[in-house]
Amino acid sequence: MKNGFGPILPGAEHILHGADYNPEQFLYHPEVLSEDIRLMKLAGCNIMSVGIFAWAALEPREYEYHFEWLDEVLDRLAENGIGVLLATPSAARPVWMTQKYPDVARTDERGRRQRHGGRQNHCSSSVTYRKKVTEINTLLAKRYGHHPAVRGWHVSNEYVGEGCYCEKCQSAFREWLKQKYHGDIHELNEAWWTYFWSHTYQSFDEIEAPSPLGEMQLHGLNLDWKRFISHMQLDFYLMECEPLRRLTPNLPVTTNFHDFVHLDGGVNYWEWAPHVDFISWDNYPYWHTDTHSNWEEAVERAFIHDINRSLKNGKPFALLESSPSATNWQPVAKLRRPGMLNLGSVQAIAHGADTVQYFQWRKSLGGSEKFHGAVVDHYGGQRTRVFQEVQQMGEELSKLDSIIGVTESSKVAIIYDWENAWAMNDAEGPRQKGLDYFETCIAHYQPFWTLGIQVDVINMEHKLEGYDLVIAPMLYMLPENVARRMARYVENGGYLVTTYWSGIVDENDRCRTCGRPNGLRQVLGIWSEEIDALYDSDVVDVEGYKARTFCDLIHLDGAESLLSYSSEFYAGRPALTRNHYGKGYAFYIAFRSYDSFLQDFYTRLAQELKLPRAINAGLPIGVTAQKRGDILFVQNYDGESKQIQLDQPYYDRLTGQLYQGWLPLKPYSYQILES
Ligand code: GAL
Repeated sequence: MKNGFGPILPGAEHILHGADYNPEQFLYHPEVLSEDIRLMKLAGCNIMSVGIFAWAALEPREYEYHFEWLDEVLDRLAENGIGVLLATPSAARPVWMTQKYPDVARTDERGRRQRHGGRQNHCSSSVTYRKKVTEINTLLAKRYGHHPAVRGWHVSNEYVGEGCYCEKCQSAFREWLKQKYHGDIHELNEAWWTYFWSHTYQSFDEIEAPSPLGEMQLHGLNLDWKRFISHMQLDFYLMECEPLRRLTPNLPVTTNFHDFVHLDGGVNYWEWAPHVDFISWDNYPYWHTDTHSNWEEAVERAFIHDINRSLKNGKPFALLESSPSATNWQPVAKLRRPGMLNLGSVQAIAHGADTVQYFQWRKSLGGSEKFHGAVVDHYGGQRTRVFQEVQQMGEELSKLDSIIGVTESSKVAIIYDWENAWAMNDAEGPRQKGLDYFETCIAHYQPFWTLGIQVDVINMEHKLEGYDLVIAPMLYMLPENVARRMARYVENGGYLVTTYWSGIVDENDRCRTCGRPNGLRQVLGIWSEEIDALYDSDVVDVEGYKARTFCDLIHLDGAESLLSYSSEFYAGRPALTRNHYGKGYAFYIAFRSYDSFLQDFYTRLAQELKLPRAINAGLPIGVTAQKRGDILFVQNYDGESKQIQLDQPYYDRLTGQLYQGWLPLKPYSYQILES
């Protein structure tokens, strides 16, 4: 089934193609602008994100504004039919500001106020910084809100969850806690279980943010601090948006979300989703590494794309940054092999992006990112491999108008929840070596990628109705209301799969009584008594499959056992169970496995539930397929040629060629097909 949304930028007739454009670096080289525009047109670019870090060029001294260069850039882009996502510059402030108003800088967890430098390091509660940002955003909105080039707002850059520990932020934290716990310190003590090690608070005024100089092991405090930081960042973002929304109500507003793999430093983007008009994110895959294969990397990227599509219930999103070549911050700047750049871009489109944008348009001549990939190299021209691949992408994207605003709805959802990750990773057990929540969710996702079945990736608050299958790996934190909604979902005919280390704590990271998995014992028909954490070299046999890392020792309480452990002192005890509950089924996977178990298990469930596949064909290792609107995207992430047997004739959308029988796929390539 299709979801129909409008274009993410009103009036956009084509998939957007462009880059971060930082022309303030070349103001002393005025010839560059004309050449940039010539090259942008050659590469089929129709959108540029402008001004992201340009505050020092806009306001080199306090209240001395220089907009003339930006006027010219925007005028020239508009004359040439190139739209602009205009940025607010708050991610990097001018030197004078930090020196004149030191309170704009962040204080670290040891209480040290930072000096000027770097970026994205302001104090979110600084009254001065909020005032300065409001001033510049207001000026930008007034001056450019109706400029013909400007199509939307790019607010700041990659808000992440780094907190400030200054006294102002700490007292805001106390206020936030007071609200949350209804001004009742006993309620907080109960929630955080502060009674151990004499950590009990007598008043909210005694509370300090977690710090290596003080408290680090009160998990409820750590979790609330993370939530508070996320809240403060969102509050700052909303403050930034206020003049934009007021003065330019017709311009859509977005902010580029960070790559989610940095979970622990993260903000909870689910709370942000309602406040952006469309989701945008920055995708920096680790292609060609020596640690894992490209197709495994593709699975992980697909998962994150699917989070971004799910954040606004299927609405297309923006791939707002990606490197057109190597990055300079990954351990090795290995070049993208021919084909890989465009394959990665097409992957985003297949999963629901309506843009392909790069960081950055032209390589810096100095500074921290002078060796980061860019569309235009230091050499400056169009004869580079990278430029030509970008140019090819531009041509291909111009043929995909039919899918603008269209995505497919999914029958499967995997729950991957940031708060659950924060709590679990902080919990000091049952394996200090790492619990690998993210990797576990990816392992449950991979079988669907391999089958070409689209999956939504949702948080635990998301509605479950409408999915045939919901998978909740390691849902350690399981608030009562979530467990109740899951029970209702199964009762009404849904299929639920959950695993070991689920239903352990409540929303405050406080353990619950009554037996695990708390809140789901009836639905699952089991009781988990204890969990065996294994060393990396340990293997437990499960009727031919291999269990590693975790083996949950469960008792049947109504469920049937589908597989049992066949070694260790728990041989004979259930390892995989199914329970008929209401009109649905609930499965419990008691062990972690790295072999074919998950693929076999989910392939059977997919057949039983008749889950829709993008194409009814066997997909060899490294190959996957996505359907979007009238297009089928088949992708090969392997360095070897592959072929798949087509289930019907297809035409190549780009060349018109007819394919019947076998479809050839070169290394790192894709086919964009229609029937
Ligand atoms: C992003 C950031 C960009 C650029 C890029 C380099 O995280 O938003 O400004 O630094 O990384 O990969």
